[in-house]
Amino acid sequence: MASISLGGKKVEVKDGSSIISACEELGIPFSCKDGVCGTCLIKVIKGEDNLSEPNDKEEAFGLSGKKERLACQCKIKKGEVEIESGY
Ligand code: FES
Repeated sequence: MASISLGGKKVEVKDGSSIISACEELGIPFSCKDGVCGTCLIKVIKGEDNLSEPNDKEEAFGLSGKKERLACQCKIKKGEVEIESGY
């Protein structure tokens, strides 16, 4: 089981799955869920290599590194990822 944490709260996520519902539970807002609006921007504090590689939609949004991600586009591979809201 993988996990996402924010501000001391941790939500477990199945390995290889989307992080949308965990992030919603942690209070990250979503809108389009399609990599377009940027509402779900997160900063990755720890464990960025445990997330899927940034995809074309994230690159089109102007994100090139692994520290700022669109939560609607990420899958977690395994392990722990610590985030904070990108806004
Ligand atoms: S919810 Fe719109 S980019 Fe993620």
